[in-house]
Formats: sequence, C-alpha cells, structure tokens
Amino acid sequence: MKQLTSKELRATYLNFFAARGHAVIKSASLIPENDPTVLFTTAGMHPLVPYLSGEKHPAGRRLTDVQKCVRTGDIDEVGDSSHCTFFEMLGNWSLGDYFKKESIGWSYELLTKELGIDPARLAVSVFAGDEDCARDEESASLWQQNGIPADRIFYLPKKNNWWGPAGETGPCGPDTEIFIDTGKPKCSPDCSPACSCGKYLEIWNNVFMQFHKNADGTFSPLKQKNVDTGMGLERTVCVLNGLQSVYETDLFAPAIATIARLSGTTYGAEAESTRAMRVIADHIRTATMMLGDENGIVPSNVNQGYILRRLIRRAVRFARVINLPDDGIVEVAKVYIEQYREVYPEIGQNADKIVLELSKEAAKFQTTLAQGIKEFEKVIGYLPPECKRLSGKAAFRLYDTFGFPIEMTQELAAEKGYDVDIKGYSKAFEEHQAKSRAGAEQTFKGGLADHAEATSRLHTATHLMNAALRTLLDPNIRQRGSNITAERLRFDFNFDRPLTPDEIKAVEDWVNAAIKADVEIVCEEMPIEAAREKGAMGVFDNKYGDVVKVYTMGEFSCEICGGPHAKRTGELGHFKIVKEQSSSAGIRRIKAILEY
Ligand code: SER
Repeated sequence: MKQLTSKELRATYLNFFAARGHAVIKSASLIPENDPTVLFTTAGMHPLVPYLSGEKHPAGRRLTDVQKCVRTGDIDEVGDSSHCTFFEMLGNWSLGDYFKKESIGWSYELLTKELGIDPARLAVSVFAGDEDCARDEESASLWQQNGIPADRIFYLPKKNNWWGPAGETGPCGPDTEIFIDTGKPKCSPDCSPACSCGKYLEIWNNVFMQFHKNADGTFSPLKQKNVDTGMGLERTVCVLNGLQSVYETDLFAPAIATIARLSGTTYGAEAESTRAMRVIADHIRTATMMLGDENGIVPSNVNQGYILRRLIRRAVRFARVINLPDDGIVEVAKVYIEQYREVYPEIGQNADKIVLELSKEAAKFQTTLAQGIKEFEKVIGYLPPECKRLSGKAAFRLYDTFGFPIEMTQELAAEKGYDVDIKGYSKAFEEHQAKSRAGAEQTFKGGLADHAEATSRLHTATHLMNAALRTLLDPNIRQRGSNITAERLRFDFNFDRPLTPDEIKAVEDWVNAAIKADVEIVCEEMPIEAAREKGAMGVFDNKYGDVVKVYTMGEFSCEICGGPHAKRTGELGHFKIVKEQSSSAGIRRIKAILEY
C-alpha cells in the first residue's frame, strides 16, 4: 500500500480520472445555491443534481473533483475514530456516458495499481434487488472479472446498497460499495459489510444513478444512466497509512498537536480528553470551512447559522473539559487556515473573517457557559430522585439566558442519565415567539421535485431582478449571494444605501414588464470569452471551466448560469419585493416572491 499524504491522494485521484477523459472541476460551495432541499452540500453529486437529471454540463459528460462536504446528522458521534462533520469527497461522474463496466474497472485499477492496495484486502457489496430495481448481477460479475472472488461479494438490500437522493427527492440509484477488510475475525458466520463490528471499512461508493425519487416515494427512470462515485479523503488516507483513526492523519494532526500543546493534554492518553480533543479538532475545522466558504455564513439562530453556532459552542464546551485556554480554538482555526488555503483559496481570502467571527461567537458563549452549567446542575439537583427528566421550561431558560443550544442541553442531560422534555421546550419556545430552528428542520424536510418548478421560476426571476437593478440603479451592481427556497428568492448585491420606495416599485415594474412580454428563455453553451463578448453577466466565472451556459431572456437579461430555468418569462406570475434591507457593509439584500 502506498502511504500517500492527503495532498498526494487528491492529486493521484484527479490525475487518474483526468487521464481517462474526465474534466477536473472545482469544488462547489458548501452552501448550496438555489437548492432548498438541504442546508449544506453533503456529497460531490449534490451540486451536479441538474446534470444527473439531464441538463447538459458545460465541462462535458465525464467529470471529477474534490468536493467540500458537511454532514451534521451525526454530530453526537464525533469524537470516535471515524466520524467527521466536514470531509472532502473525491468523486468521478459519468453524465449519461460510461456505466458499470468502466466504473468498476477503474475503481479496481485505481485501488490496486495506483494506491497499491492488496486485492485480497478488498470486499464489495452490490444491490440485492427488490420491486424497484433488479438484483445487480452485472456488477457482481464485473467485480469477479476484475479479480474479486465470489465470497467477497455481498448482496445487500436497499437499506445498505442504495444511495440518494440528497434531500427527500431527486436522483438516486443502486450502488456498489468498496470496503477494506481490516483483517479482524468475522464477528459471526453472517458477518458482512452491513455489519458494524468494524471488520469492513467502506472507502468508496459507486452509485448507478438511474432513478428519480418522487415526493410520493415512487421511483421514475431518469433521462440518462449516470455514475456517481464518492471516496472519503480522510478515511482513505487513514487506511493507506495504517492509522487507527482519521485524527492521526495529516489532515488533523497539526490541529491536534496545537490543542495538545495549548491545553497540556496528551492525545490518546485517556479516553475522555482524547474525545474532547477530537471534538474540538473536528468542529473548529468545520466552522473554519463554513465561515471561510465562498458563500460563507455566520453564526445565528436559524438554518445553516444555527448549525455553525452549535458546532462552535460545542467546541467551547469541550475546550473547558481539557482546560484549553479561551483563545485556543481560534489558534486551532489558524492552523486550519494555513493548511487549507492552498487547496481552497477562499479560506485564505477569508482568513480575517474566520478569526473575527469565531472569536466573537466563542467569546459570547464563554461568558455564559460556566453559569449555564451551574444552573443546569442546580435544576438537576432539585429534581426528586425518581424524576429523570429535565423540564422544557428549564431547557428553554438554558437556551434563552445562557445560549445553550437544545442539543447541548440534551447531551449534558444524557451524560447524567436524564432526558429533556422536548415538547415542553418547544412550547416554551413558541410562547416566547423566538425564532426557532424549525426553519432548519423545514428545510431538511422540503423536497426538490415538487418544488422544482417553483424554484426554477424564482431562479429566473432572480436573473430578471439582477438585470433590473443594473439597468435602473447602477450598472456596477453584481450578485453577491443568492438563495432560493420554493417560497421566495433572496438576493444580495453591492449597493451602498437603502433603495427608496419608488426605486423598489420601479424594479418590480421592470421585472413584471419582462414577465408580461413572455419571452422565450434561451440556453446556449459557449466558451467563456464568447459569453463575455456577448455581454453576459458572469455570476459563476471560472466555476465550470472554459465552456459556460448562457441564459438569455430577450432583451431583458443575459447571464452565465448553470440553470435550470423556466421556459418562458410568462410562466412567472406577479413579481413582488417583500423586503429590502442591509446584509453587511455595502451589501443590500432583497427578498421577493412570485404571486399567482
Ligand atoms: N453520492 C454517493 C455518496 O455520497 C457517491 O458519491 O456516497
């Protein structure tokens, strides 16, 4: 096995697929643009959903990249040897081009030849088949042809061998997963990669994406058969170097060393402090990537900002466990900034913002954490011995007065054998009419397919409004951020004063006139220079490489964009601005809706 560093593995992977006709594309933002189904980019396929569904990607039908990903479903598991909230996913895609044969052949070749993994240590799983999709004998036989014997090919059901969609609806399909056999004995005669005993460690997942999951739970065939693969960078570096945990890889080691030095704690010496060190290393890395992202966010009480707040506050809590000084977590962030600025230039560009926002949020919580813990212990102390439940009111007070995210209160309670009256907490919350994390949950629940049309139309309205602002107010106005849900668009742009009511009305009228004109929305592909010459607005400069898609809406708008959009402006309904406010210094924010 080749003991590659993370940097070497990224390069080896991308070069391997580039040599097989794949265009290397840049990681998309961690904050999905114009996609209401999830809060964060959770997989390499996520920014590619329109292309898996049949839109044409300007860079071609074979793509490869390293994608920044965040998954926060398992925050509580972080601290063990393999869970991370941020990770990098190495991926390669066929957008209706090659299928199982090439995908499996190349995976085998990369793993055994390029990475030097002994074929005897590989095991794979394939889809066992059900009423939605046939048993995947084809993949099994391809694995055998490549050299994996039948006794290391496992047929598993949908629960294990089906991937996606990323939200509730969207592209998905059966997959074949590749595992390293760690050499541990089988825990039972039935031991398989489905088992969590630790014998098999998943390193790569090849999804044969050929279905679309609908809002009613049924599956329809996609226009084309795709391949979507994902390999976890952290895990694979760990395996290649024969390490016990991802925290020992070069991705975490410098941060862990800093935490150890500043807190005087030895990593690995003792379970509780080791867990705390891992939690801090993980959460501050994720916070650094969220703050420093090209669509970077800041801590808040809703949506992505709430998750970021939880991560930072949880890191502050664990910092206390190992006596890491108050400015310690910022020092850890600085280590990550230096480490990642080469791979993701936005991290270097946003270094000051990362340090400032992290310091502010940590300081806010550092002042109330100790008091909150005291309050928590007092409340628990008052409970009669037979009562093992913290009241909703107490949990709400911890949130409202001491800034404890409810999940933190639940975690503290669980450590002492208590649970929390969540219903009572929600009631207390509503009573105070506080803004809640419900926003975040709603977003998780929302589906794309049923909302796809609404989202596309609002996306089209965003282009028209962008053009209206430039035409009516200032030709130097540029998009600084865009976020679309099924209900509204949100658009940030550079402008140094509030809009007057007359200007707002003029923008609305301009957009409504464009809608009334009912012009066709034309999509063309062209080299980026041609798009510039045509006068297209460049929102996604350099994002897709040399060839870009340009959406033209008659005389009204011409913009580089990935789509999708409505077919004609007349589909849009009545455009209305519902809010115009400051977003940050020199940046205004507009929220607008379409009424029908
Ligand atoms: N989408 C699949 C995954 O996340 C493969 O990339 O595992």
